[in-house]
Amino acid sequence: PDASPHRRMPSRHRFVADLSQCLFDFVIQLLPTQEEMAVKEDVRKLLERLIRTIEPDSRLLSFGSTANGFSLRNSDMDLCCLIEGSDQALSATVLVTMLGDLLERETKFHVKPLPHARIPIVKLSLDPSPGLPLGIACDIGFENRLALENTRLLMCYAMIDPTRVRTMVLFLKVWSKRRKINSPYKGTLSSYGYVLLVIYFLVHVKNPPVLPNLQQMPPLRPITKEDTHLAGYNTWFFDDIELLRTRWHSENNESVAELLIDFYRYYARDFSYNTGVASIRAGLLKKSAKGWQNDLSASRYHDSRERNRLCIEDPFELDFNVGRCVTKDGIYTIRGEFMRASRILSTRPERAVVALAELCA
Ligand code: GTP
Ligand code: MG
Repeated sequence: PDASPHRRMPSRHRFVADLSQCLFDFVIQLLPTQEEMAVKEDVRKLLERLIRTIEPDSRLLSFGSTANGFSLRNSDMDLCCLIEGSDQALSATVLVTMLGDLLERETKFHVKPLPHARIPIVKLSLDPSPGLPLGIACDIGFENRLALENTRLLMCYAMIDPTRVRTMVLFLKVWSKRRKINSPYKGTLSSYGYVLLVIYFLVHVKNPPVLPNLQQMPPLRPITKEDTHLAGYNTWFFDDIELLRTRWHSENNESVAELLIDFYRYYARDFSYNTGVASIRAGLLKKSAKGWQNDLSASRYHDSRERNRLCIEDPFELDFNVGRCVTKDGIYTIRGEFMRASRILSTRPERAVVALAELCA
């Protein structure tokens, strides 16, 4: 006998209600444990102490999923080193080389300095041990203040509607990893890119919207350019989330399952991949207006044709396409996966838990 409280509902409603419950249950067991978070914090402190032997005025801050509320068990640590006063005596390239040497001497980490990358970083990893069954992977970069700000923006979006936003994002991260469409190095999309697609959908596609547009809300007090600009980019957004929670209520009452089904349908069928740019700041933009067309003539000289298949505007670095790594094959595969997911969820399988398993199989 069916013990579900939704037993007497029509079957589609019941499926959707069960799916929401399954999504919560599924995501909860994939959250990092308290212990994992404590170990990561210890690692951050240890690394900060070591870095201060080179640059006494430095701080090591965490960004990316460990700091934005979208972390899964065993996700990588993204760390950013900030140097106070930042008359920065040493360049990132030199710092990366020095830090690489130091960590190699002083710690058990496997160390790989990449001083000449577009953004110089040191890559670290720790082998699995009894207290840390899956080891740790960690990247340390320098002065990446924009990444700290976009992390804070995503965190604020997560805090406005934690249940729906975090459940959707975390599920899509697991799903995209299981379906192998979450690796920019292989021509698909980064986690950061997927999170932006979710926020874009919740702010600009859903009507009524599930989330407000934090970058377009009126500020509470006058702001000056000095307050808001970083490296020439406007990084202002409404970040008083406590106040927002008392003043802003979404008219949209759809469940997580309804939103997820609609998300897949939208990106399978409706998003204009050929001409559109998803911008969480400004809604749907045109590739032509940003100069992001797939320029076939230029492609003979470099890879610009490949660069703009999937266009997602960074919230602050407006000239940066977060989907730039997605190749022709990559977009074909990703879109195929959106279609597959949409099909699985719309063919109304008997049980939500079966649908979810098939989705991530
Ligand atoms: P997992 O590592 O899969 O758990 O996801 P994550 O949330 O840490 O995302 P990801 O590793 O893709 O990115 C980490 C952080 O790096 C993001 O939160 C951003 O702050 C920054 N970042 C990643 N990719 C880009 C990019 O293309 N442009 C910019 N400006 N920042 C990026
Ligand atoms: Mg990360």
